[in-house]
Amino acid sequence: MIECRNLKKIYTNGDVETAALGGVSFRVEKGEFVSIIGPSGSGKSTLMHILGALDVPTSGQYFLDGKEVSQLNDDELSELRRERIGFVFQAFNLLPRTTVLRNVTLPLLYSKTSLKEREKKARQCLRYVGMEESKFYNMSNQLSGGQMQRVAIARSLINDPAIILADEPTGNLDTKTSQIVMKAFQELNHKGHTIILITHEPDIAKYAQRIISIRDGRIESDRRSS
Ligand SMILES: Nc1ncnc2c1ncn2[C@@H]1O[C@H](COP(=O)(O)OP(=O)(O)OP(=O)(O)O)[C@@H](O)[C@H]1O
Ligand SMILES: [Mg+2]
Repeated sequence: MIECRNLKKIYTNGDVETAALGGVSFRVEKGEFVSIIGPSGSGKSTLMHILGALDVPTSGQYFLDGKEVSQLNDDELSELRRERIGFVFQAFNLLPRTTVLRNVTLPLLYSKTSLKEREKKARQCLRYVGMEESKFYNMSNQLSGGQMQRVAIARSLINDPAIILADEPTGNLDTKTSQIVMKAFQELNHKGHTIILITHEPDIAKYAQRIISIRDGRIESDRRSS
């Protein structure tokens, strides 16, 4: 489903070059649940942006469903992001001063789904992640960190994506809420979603079947989770 071949990413700001990825290769099959673990600055978010077709590598190739992503045109890219991928970003990326319900329906804005149908789906996704009904009309900036995280996960589920990419989804949560969130990912995986989850916490990484460890932009190990 996913194949990376020798991905490199160099960021250039003025004359400063940062090598964020130094040649990363791996495959992920349909239905896998993979954690990517590594210290701050090791290139995890950079990799996720490439996997999510939000950024392109400086060199190397990335194939999604057998297609090389850098060869797709803008329409094909937006379709891919809209229909195949669900994102949970490191900094939730919720719209403030916008209700919980509306935040969750946003990815469907440009789809043909009717407003009523969108809201119905949003409610299902919010219930799925254990959000209380009483919060559905709260503004997203009036929620706790854990609640925002759950809204971000609900939003990633709204298009029933084949692949869910989550960047530090438990980064701001207490242990108990982290467990709830991770159980939700495991359940989604059991339903057939392919999940790639980024974390710097070994205890969180263990929820996946496979752990890829990266350091300084390179894969250090790739193993079954015990
Ligand atoms: N837009 C950018 N311009 C320049 N350098 C960048 C940019 N984005 C990231 N970097 C650099 O690339 C390296 C990898 O960053 P990345 O965000 O992928 O790390 P990360 O593993 O996600 O870290 P964290 O755990 O802190 O989120 C870092 O050295 C970072 O400073
Ligand atoms: Mg990051």
